Amino acid sequence: MIEGVAEMLREGKKYLIGNWKMFKDEIQAHAHFHLLAQFLAEKKIFLDVAIAAPSVFLSDLVRKTQNLVTLLAQNVHWEREGPFTGEISVPMLRSLGVSGSLVGHSERRLSFGENNVTAGKRMGALLRGGLKAVLCVGESLEERDQGRWSRVLETQVCQAFEASGVKNAFEILGSFAQSPLLFVAYEPVWAIGSGHAASPAQAQEAHSFLRNIFSFYFGRDVGEYVKILYGGSVKASNIKDFLSCPDIDGALVGGASLNVQEFFQMCERAASLVKG
Ligand code: 13P
Repeated sequence: MIEGVAEMLREGKKYLIGNWKMFKDEIQAHAHFHLLAQFLAEKKIFLDVAIAAPSVFLSDLVRKTQNLVTLLAQNVHWEREGPFTGEISVPMLRSLGVSGSLVGHSERRLSFGENNVTAGKRMGALLRGGLKAVLCVGESLEERDQGRWSRVLETQVCQAFEASGVKNAFEILGSFAQSPLLFVAYEPVWAIGSGHAASPAQAQEAHSFLRNIFSFYFGRDVGEYVKILYGGSVKASNIKDFLSCPDIDGALVGGASLNVQEFFQMCERAASLVKG
């Protein structure tokens, strides 16, 4: 274990990421972000809160984080620069002060031809650039019904890491040196935007499985310290049920993160589970 890393990561912090997807105009985005920073400043809650905002808002929002809100992109290309119309790069995010990005979200996989390889390449570029990567994985309803969910998750993680060029545990844990950089979001496709969340028991089972995958392939330290978030119809009324599970380090929230008051409630409920 790299010196100092163990203590830093044993703190039991919880992570809450709001994924705004393709919602909000400029005025709404600014108002929401401003209110969130104000809320976190007033409440002084012990919680790591991030927003994955549409890329057009990043350069303005980054000035409003007040070191209280982590700002993420929703996608990023693996090349540093080049003729890739419509894409943004890791150096661009770094130059703005944006902290990282989601990669491999199922909406990107289903609608834009993303796969484990492209997700992994994006993740590798982020980690090598010292930015946070939130690798999204999750099975379809058909795959769950056929009892294939664990095989699907293992393939998603392994192929993504293979493509990432991140070779060993040391490289991953080394990237934890200041704060965790590697996050995995377990988002079963059937639970996203459906109003039908996984049960906390189903989510815990999948998270524990994912942790074991990391331990098996990358070493016990990585399995213990990778941050695994649950996503899929999380809202204020169920967030505590998920975050109380031993292997669930936080939540990745879509629809419910768009509502300012509901997101505040989620922050408070998540923080109530953590010793400050
Ligand atoms: P919902 O919370 O709307 O189900 O979306 C989850 C999600 O896709 C977060 O990335």
